[in-house]
Amino acid sequence: MGLVAAKIEPSAKADIVEGLTQALAETSVETMKAQNFHWNVTGMAFGPLHELFQKMYEDHFEGQDLLAERIKQFDVHAEGRYSVFLSRSAIEEHDGRVDARAMIETLLADQETLSSTLAALCEIADQHGDWATNDLATSRIQAHDKFAWMLRAHLKTTAA
Ligand SMILES: [Fe+2]
Repeated sequence: MGLVAAKIEPSAKADIVEGLTQALAETSVETMKAQNFHWNVTGMAFGPLHELFQKMYEDHFEGQDLLAERIKQFDVHAEGRYSVFLSRSAIEEHDGRVDARAMIETLLADQETLSSTLAALCEIADQHGDWATNDLATSRIQAHDKFAWMLRAHLKTTAA
């Protein structure tokens, strides 16, 4: 009986929270970047890219919330400062002053980074029987892998 989060030993809990915080940091930086690109994208594909980047930041905003709230379920303080997110994120912020193709390329690389950060989290959670974090990380991987596919498709000029 009892909550899964309450049964996890302290050292495992620290590792899981560390992974969740890493994912939260990178998801948060990527949210702002996708919204920045949503505002500043230019070119003949303005319409669909403006829409796609909006779908991304909306999804990522929701993802941030779910990751932070999983941290709270361990009764741990959830980081909420961009300065800290930027200092620990492998994803960097962007000034948005590039063409559409460069925006797609940078977001694609970021989605791959997120997918691998979340895969590591998935594995840690799995090792410690934290099925809820495992499920959350898995669903976030699905979202990032899907966006990566959509972004990659824009860069192809011939059929696969
Ligand atoms: Fe908008």
